[in-house]
Amino acid sequence: MDAFEIVGGKRLRGQVRINGAKNAALPQMAAAIMADSPVTLTDVPNLADVRMLGRILGELGVQVSRKGGALCCRVVDDKPVRARYELVRQMRASICVLGPLLARRGKAQVSMPGGCAIGDRPVDLHLRGLAALGAEIRLEGGYIVATAKRLRGAEVFLGGPFGSTVTGTANVMMAATLARGTTTIEMAACEPEVVDLADLLNAMGAKIRGHGTPRIVIEGVRSLSGCRHRLIPDRIEAATFMVAAAITNGDVTVGNCRPAHQMAVIDRLRRIGVEVERNGRGVAVSSARRLNPVDLVTQPFPGFPTDVQAQLMALLCLADGNSIITEKIYPDRFMHVGELGRMGARLRKEGPTVIVEGVKNLIGAPVMASDLRASAALVLAGLAAQGPTRVSRVYHIDRGYEKIEQRLAALGADIRRIDEPMS
Ligand code: EPU
Repeated sequence: MDAFEIVGGKRLRGQVRINGAKNAALPQMAAAIMADSPVTLTDVPNLADVRMLGRILGELGVQVSRKGGALCCRVVDDKPVRARYELVRQMRASICVLGPLLARRGKAQVSMPGGCAIGDRPVDLHLRGLAALGAEIRLEGGYIVATAKRLRGAEVFLGGPFGSTVTGTANVMMAATLARGTTTIEMAACEPEVVDLADLLNAMGAKIRGHGTPRIVIEGVRSLSGCRHRLIPDRIEAATFMVAAAITNGDVTVGNCRPAHQMAVIDRLRRIGVEVERNGRGVAVSSARRLNPVDLVTQPFPGFPTDVQAQLMALLCLADGNSIITEKIYPDRFMHVGELGRMGARLRKEGPTVIVEGVKNLIGAPVMASDLRASAALVLAGLAAQGPTRVSRVYHIDRGYEKIEQRLAALGADIRRIDEPMS
């Protein structure tokens, strides 16, 4: 199994280009199920999750082929409707085939995704939203079985105990594009990935407005056609590189990054004392030695993203005082706390909150990646730590960051991938 060996203490300098967004790519690939001609997405990162959805789509009659950064998704068989448990359980985001299958093929059988390392992740809002559009939904042998002759527009409320749902909004919005009549989604997710999906769907012939606000209105159309669409940059990858610059007292320009998608992250970084400036080539991030503690609460967009909570915790471990981090999206998303503790971090978890007592140094250690963003945090901690760190099970990080070790090494990090024998 692959691992990273990192020798910390190198200042990162230079420029890095951010790839297209993983979480924009996945629902957009699924949207191709509904198109009468090929959908080509460009700037698509070559990631394990993208390949996994490509496999699932392949079994659903959608041929997915890559040419450089472009992914062409073409329907070659519109009969299959079943997304298997063996594949879906490996990637929760595969639930995003549910809406498109139902809308275009009248039936979907998608394995219920189940929990994962970041906690319980129900799909009740997805199902309620699709039921409101007229789908009949039942559970059968661990599969969601949804049927509808033709969906009909409706008013759909997507608020849950932790706010809206990103892939739930994507599912209902996609399904509603082919429904009869008008759908209004209230308390829709406002994340840039939802906006990018709506932009793709409109380019395919859908009639969506209000995306980017909590009320999205969709007028159903009879059919959708293919198009070519460039993905938005990955705001989580961008934030991760910003923290990499900050935690190494570095000076890095993050290119292909949209500051409007990063307001909350930039705000926290500036309060910590990190310099963040726009320049002609992107967002320049540099940091002197002193880091101020801050309080941090994760929230739906435009609030601070849960997907950057672990990375910022790694940074705050080295701040000059106590910080308080509260997770309001996934209250159990703290798998990194124990591992950071192995590196000398002083962290105390109390319910959905972690109190971070800043220390002078982190100390390299063998640590274990548990989920995608937690792994990123361990790599960041390793970059700053004294001495060597080994991060095992980096297949988690490969799900969401393309060749991260090569890109960090290009900025001056001492990091390499090794094949670690199983113990
Ligand atoms: N929720 C419900 N019911 C539902 C759906 C969600 O209660 O039917 C709850 C969740 O348990 C959570 C909150 O609502 O507490 C938000 O979940 P959401 O549905 O928005 O998450 P998601 O769509 O499954 C996406 C990203 C995640 C990211 C979250 C939150 C994709 C493919 N995944 O997940 O990304 O953390 O939104 O922003 O877009 C990652 O990339 O590492 C990752 C986990």
